[in-house]
Amino acid sequence: MTAVKIAPSILSADFARLGDEVRAVDAAGADYIHIDVMDGHFVPNITIGPAVVKALRPHTAKPFDVHLMISPVDPYIAGFAEAGADIITVHPEAGPHLHRTLQLIKSFGKKAGVSLNPATPVEAIQHVLEEVDLILVMTVNPGFGGQSFIASQLPKIRELRRRIDALGRPVDLEVDGGINVDTARLAIEAGADVLVAGTATFTGGPEKYATNIRALR
Ligand code: DX5
Ligand code: ZN
Repeated sequence: MTAVKIAPSILSADFARLGDEVRAVDAAGADYIHIDVMDGHFVPNITIGPAVVKALRPHTAKPFDVHLMISPVDPYIAGFAEAGADIITVHPEAGPHLHRTLQLIKSFGKKAGVSLNPATPVEAIQHVLEEVDLILVMTVNPGFGGQSFIASQLPKIRELRRRIDALGRPVDLEVDGGINVDTARLAIEAGADVLVAGTATFTGGPEKYATNIRALR
């Protein structure tokens, strides 16, 4: 098995110094830069839009893993693609035609991801397994950093690992929410190969980022 990838969520970074923060986690060994986009409607928080993604793009060559928690989502795919996203992940509840949304993402030459809320079953995405490059399992209710890991999602991660392995092509299995050194181990044992980590990465200031990322890995 390949080494687990770490995707720091910049939701926990210092927003006044976001370019520096992205450079710092890049230097500290981040594999992806996880960007949480929230609209105050699909989730109860408002974060960042395509203008910020575009402004951050020159600060790193690492893939931008853009997690869209917005509804409707289709009208904004082009904006995030053109701003420099590499992976664009959507929730099945964010529009009426998930398959069409994934095709739209791929039409821009981007990797397409799909995310499952804690209450959303694997069956909600069974019909698009052939289309996706990444599956993101939420282990918190989306909206905020710093929440506690919901362990009831571990069987879902195990089930998705089985289904991905049966596909016979590479699909990232990413876990998002409440990841720390203890829950990282549980997620990896269940079959995850990409860990989103906001609080666990950005705790202690820039001089700690490399240590924090190493500990998770
Ligand atoms: C939650 C976001 C997560 C969050 C993770 O809605 O999708 O990416 O920022 O934060 P931590 O790692 O602090 O739980
Ligand atoms: Zn996220």
